[in-house]
Amino acid sequence: MRVLLLGGGGREHALALGLADDPSVEALIAAPGNPGIAAVAELRAVDPVDPVAVAGLAVEVGADLVVVGPEAPLVAGVADAVRAKGIAVFGPSAEAAGLEGSKTFAKEVMTAAGVPTARAYTCSDEASTAAALDRFDPPYVVKNDGLAAGKGVVVTDDRATAEAHARECGRVVIEEYLAGPEVSLFVVTDGETAVPLLPAQDFKRVGDGDSGPNTGGMGAYAPLPWAPADLVDEVMRDVVHPTLTEMRRRGAPFSGLLYVGLAITADGPRVIEFNARFGDPETQVVLALLETPLGGLLHAAATGTLADHPPLRWRSGAAVTVVVAAEGYPAGPRTGDVITGGEQPGVIHAGTARRAADGALLSAGGRVLCGTATGPDLAAARDAAYQVVRGITLSGSHHRRDIAAAAIDGQIALPV
Ligand code: AMP
Ligand code: GLY
Repeated sequence: MRVLLLGGGGREHALALGLADDPSVEALIAAPGNPGIAAVAELRAVDPVDPVAVAGLAVEVGADLVVVGPEAPLVAGVADAVRAKGIAVFGPSAEAAGLEGSKTFAKEVMTAAGVPTARAYTCSDEASTAAALDRFDPPYVVKNDGLAAGKGVVVTDDRATAEAHARECGRVVIEEYLAGPEVSLFVVTDGETAVPLLPAQDFKRVGDGDSGPNTGGMGAYAPLPWAPADLVDEVMRDVVHPTLTEMRRRGAPFSGLLYVGLAITADGPRVIEFNARFGDPETQVVLALLETPLGGLLHAAATGTLADHPPLRWRSGAAVTVVVAAEGYPAGPRTGDVITGGEQPGVIHAGTARRAADGALLSAGGRVLCGTATGPDLAAARDAAYQVVRGITLSGSHHRRDIAAAAIDGQIALPV
């Protein structure tokens, strides 16, 4: 089959490697892609949030399957426009992508489906914000109601900071603080049948020991040695299937990738958020361990035939990815610096570009590259990932030194 992959970040580079490895994928086209993806795909230019343009490109390249990486095109209706051309799409409709696009909509669906999540109030003025904050003890959790590229959430003990974030966002969801380690569970679904991938953990804060501001994600590892044995079954039963059923009931079946962000609290798993696409950088580690051909799996989800797909096969061992971020990320990343070591095996490109004059690899975003590796266990995978990172030079760059360290040291405690 011919596959068109939409997006150009680290997640899409990982998806591109998986798709290119699948013998059933005879051609891979990426738009806009990035210099890493260019090694395994033909790159095309397109405005990813223009549904008409993307559908036109899908027709032009003769795509049998379109895989949508980022959330913005989904919310903009790209999957609907491609489907209207009779082309299979991995990614939900605009309406179903509301599970990510609107925190309020996601809460409504979870409430209707009886899914365990934080108690929450939607507020759009000072009085309702104050009333909602009164109902909770610190730390306060204040979330921008719309898409915010993973940066719309403030978790703070300081009431004035919480109020200021609410004022800045306009419309916010204020919710109960969930204490416990976080898990990202990716579920591939055709709307009815749902197949979980391996649970992973992401590192959202910029600094070691979870210090500093939130980012798009600074590293990840999978699987989770500390996770309860029945975690995935429990989340499928209590979260995923009730949510998919509720979406079907609403006439907005969700197909594609349901990303369940969870906190494992003393009362069990609680949903922190849904996303409507693969998470970044968790995708880098989850797909590094997936042995089942990726294109066939995504095509089955896109065509409603997941029930006939064989069970997933996984490599043994573990995977770790470490993000190398630009100087100044996340507040104000500097771009345009020359990168060396970007072509080593295990390097995933996120915010990179080629200099037109001489083809030099340049930084072009906040999260620039990831060093990704697998190993027979988490410690070996971690060593190998940091080995890849040591082979990269980028002036002023920074990365976390503690990705997967607490898990290896047995320091992640489940609350009781
Ligand atoms: P989100 O954009 O909803 O994924 O939130 C980003 C990060 O904020 C999460 O990964 C958590 O670390 C934190 N967070 C969000 N909601 C909560 C909550 N209710 N309780 C505790 N931490 C939260
Ligand atoms: N890793 C967090 C996200 O993709 O939103």
